[in-house]
Amino acid sequence: MTLQNKTAEIQGKARKHLSPVMTRVTEMVIDRAKGARFWTAEGEEYIDFVSGVAVNAIGHAHEAMVAAIQKQSEAFIHFGLNYGYYESAVNLAEKLAEITPGNLDTVFFSNSGGEAIDGAIKLAKAVTGRPGIIAFEGSFHGRTMGATAITASSSKYRKFYEPILGEVYHAPYPYPGQLKGVNENEVTEYCLSQIQKIFDLRIDPSRVAAIIIEPVMGEGGYFPAQPEFLKKLRKLSDQHGILLIFDEVQTGFGRTGKMFAAEHSGVTPDILVLAKALSGGMPLGAIVASRELHEKWPAGGHGSTFGGNPVSCAAALANIKVLQEENLIERSSKLGETIVARLKASLNGLRGVKEVRGIGLMIGIEFEASIAPSAVPLIKQKALEHKLLIMNCGVYGQTIRLMLPLNIEEDVLEQGLSRLESAIKETL
Ligand SMILES: Cc1ncc(COP(=O)(O)O)c(C=O)c1O
Repeated sequence: MTLQNKTAEIQGKARKHLSPVMTRVTEMVIDRAKGARFWTAEGEEYIDFVSGVAVNAIGHAHEAMVAAIQKQSEAFIHFGLNYGYYESAVNLAEKLAEITPGNLDTVFFSNSGGEAIDGAIKLAKAVTGRPGIIAFEGSFHGRTMGATAITASSSKYRKFYEPILGEVYHAPYPYPGQLKGVNENEVTEYCLSQIQKIFDLRIDPSRVAAIIIEPVMGEGGYFPAQPEFLKKLRKLSDQHGILLIFDEVQTGFGRTGKMFAAEHSGVTPDILVLAKALSGGMPLGAIVASRELHEKWPAGGHGSTFGGNPVSCAAALANIKVLQEENLIERSSKLGETIVARLKASLNGLRGVKEVRGIGLMIGIEFEASIAPSAVPLIKQKALEHKLLIMNCGVYGQTIRLMLPLNIEEDVLEQGLSRLESAIKETL
């Protein structure tokens, strides 16, 4: 069978048997991937600036992860964390207790980000006995029903499913560019006043279980929250006995130049939700909170068949070891600054480029709303023609986001950035 026939056969089966509900960004057939590169079934080599949507923090198929996965699968693949303890899960829980901020030392494992978000909402409701949740406009928290209910990055994610979960209220997200007419210095006070307005008009704070925020907004457009706002949000939550949840599904494990984005503000949330780069590709999510809080969650009130899968936990441990031993968190911070400076120099001033911004290796190139709907898909298409995979985000799809592996090789990075700049310049 020729390589072309093989590709056509796989595409044919996919079109026939995979649900079309999932947005299909490309119809490439992937044969293998290594580091920041992948190869199609036809042998074409591409550079990957998506990393499985910020998952492969140490690149595709890192030897350390492959070895850990192999070793654990030979011992056993699944058992069920409620039927016994095993080393990979408890060592990972201990590791997370060590690297997460403050008093967060106890973990519940799930299989994905959305599932962990749902668990965090259940934890907050069970422990406080309160019904309300406050989230932020523009935020994305996942596709499960609970996560969908608090997501407000696009009405397309909610359409068809309303009414979802009651008692969810959305406040404006604290980033200047998101708030028309609000001066940069007034953003924190303005957003806090909008939460107060929710308390005054919609739900008494004594009925709010949790406030949930992405410390840097991901899917909604790559906007960092003002650290000052997060500090005041911590105080406000304490004042009313509300639990503060940070969704670090996309920002965790060095993506923003710190192990966790919470470290930029020095704020420790009550509950930290992790997934994506936690395990570098094996399905895993985590709800991390203090022992005291977890002990208030009635036993049996939550559970999971696969959560804390031994192979996923072994992969996560290997992944975190590489991040730490190869100083990749520091690299994320420094490399991010270099890339943003380069892109500003090459793109600022081009018609239609609104802003190049970044925090660590969470880098966004935002285009003017007037041209984004036509220009961004073209840029993505041109990038593919140049053998580069990129992805966008934002309510109007206006921001190209770069999610490079933290250990991307210098030459691959250079080639990828040149291809990106060409794709943008050829389009604008
Ligand atoms: C901030 C954030 N929270 C939650 C999720 C949901 O994670 P998952 O797709 O693993 O359910 C995502 C996924 O993009 C995310 O970016």
